[in-house]
Amino acid sequence: MMKPAEPATLLRLVDELAEHGWTRQQDVLPQALTLELARECRARASTGALALAAVGRGAGQEIREGVRGDRIQWLEPSQSAACDAYLAYMDALRGALNQSLYLGLADFESHFAAYPPGAFYERHLDRFRDDDRRTVSAVYYLNDDWHAEDGGALRLYLDDATLDVSPEAGCLVLFLSDRLPHEVLPTRRERLSLTGWFRRRGEGAW
Ligand code: OGA
Ligand code: MN
Repeated sequence: MMKPAEPATLLRLVDELAEHGWTRQQDVLPQALTLELARECRARASTGALALAAVGRGAGQEIREGVRGDRIQWLEPSQSAACDAYLAYMDALRGALNQSLYLGLADFESHFAAYPPGAFYERHLDRFRDDDRRTVSAVYYLNDDWHAEDGGALRLYLDDATLDVSPEAGCLVLFLSDRLPHEVLPTRRERLSLTGWFRRRGEGAW
């Protein structure tokens, strides 16, 4: 199902991330795989497998729909061929990031996310105050025919400007987790994605 990751695309992603702290690329994965991931996300959402996402970590976790209204479910290996193909691609990307940028990324964690109409995620950074392992954020969008009036853009707060990314199927966005504040603007349509983080090893945890 999966063709091997294109080395040229991986290199471009890595170079742009190093230069700007973020990058985006359309159609990094085969369209059939993107469609299958979208189908799986929708199926999980419709059976209620996706749960309201929490804010914070560990004992400090709480669910606050005012801050983020998405429903999520974490990916585990061997759940489906499509998820495994996605994780394999991300692992190739992790290798490229480590080789070129010496980031020492040890693993990748990722969840499906579904934002129902009206949901949003307020401006935030992805790195937790008490856990600095999350290093590079990766969001892969699964929505066909997204239009500006559907809302739901990812707004990146760059040094001197803001940039809105439309959550169109096949678009992969990478950014440095501790550097780039971002938010998800209110969506008017169900908005599906795979959101994940390349992580460094934790202090003393290994
Ligand atoms: C997140 C997040 C962005 C998006 O889940 O932390 O910022 O575009 N998601 O879904
Ligand atoms: Mn985020």
